[in-house]
Amino acid sequence: MSVAPSQACLLHFDDETAAAQRLGQAAQLPVKMIDRHRFPDGELKLRLPVDGAGRLPAHVVLLRSLHDPNEKLVELLLTARAARTLGARHITLVAPYMAYMRQDIAFAPGEVVSQQVVGAFLAGLVDAVITVDPHLHRVATLQEAMAVPQAIVLSGAEPLADLIAQRHPNALLVGPDGESAQWIAQAAARHGFDHAVCTKVRHGDRDVTIELPPLHAQGRAVVLLDDMASTGRTLALAAQLLLQAGAASVDVAVTHALFAGDALQALHEAGVGEVWSTDCIPHPSNAVPMAGPLATALQSVLRA
Ligand code: R5P
Repeated sequence: MSVAPSQACLLHFDDETAAAQRLGQAAQLPVKMIDRHRFPDGELKLRLPVDGAGRLPAHVVLLRSLHDPNEKLVELLLTARAARTLGARHITLVAPYMAYMRQDIAFAPGEVVSQQVVGAFLAGLVDAVITVDPHLHRVATLQEAMAVPQAIVLSGAEPLADLIAQRHPNALLVGPDGESAQWIAQAAARHGFDHAVCTKVRHGDRDVTIELPPLHAQGRAVVLLDDMASTGRTLALAAQLLLQAGAASVDVAVTHALFAGDALQALHEAGVGEVWSTDCIPHPSNAVPMAGPLATALQSVLRA
């Protein structure tokens, strides 16, 4: 459906007001907040910003970055179902960070493949999804994980590469594990960085072993690039090994700044200097805005 701006609006929750304003301005969409009340027992009451006739526009865009996802998934369920009854004929979810994409296979009998479950859940709620670097490892496309009519995947790798090129034009770009090879390839191609990818084996949430690839790190400004840092242990160990191999400095660039618990402390204790991230997840390390690319993607959905 092709949508005039007057027939669309961007809805958000109070904790994402700043991001919604940036996206609304970039996409030239009116921005409206969903009112959220929490009952004493923890349940939620939501109130959608309807017009004087009690209606929503035909195209509703929902902004919800899905870090700390569990309650947000319930919010999306309540919002999307209610929006349909209030006039929304097309719903686009803009989730700069998409949750539950890493659990894409049952590693043990009975283990829930969360990617499939959450993917099907969201596909049942919305018509289009726009996200950034979803962790797709064993499936090739977002639509395999989430069967929505329109699925747009953006990447933080190139804008992060632009930032790295400003800070360290001769950086040696290193990916901490095989899964990062895709982002390393994109970033390296953009600026011709020397690059290499480590091998990682995960033993537990905070327990990984890493092997460096053959590389000459001696005296180099190394930048570790990955899609996300959660506990930070992957990047911390890779940084330690690179410094032991003679790197002059190790900085870190990630699309998704999850940084759970003491992750940042672990990075700095390992000798990491700067930490840069996109603003897909709000964090003090945010250095790369994504509102522009998200708005361009959104406009293509509205025009389709
Ligand atoms: C997985 O392969 C991801 O790309 C990251 O490397 C991983 O999630 C990082 O996890 P952590 O920061 O907990 O080591």
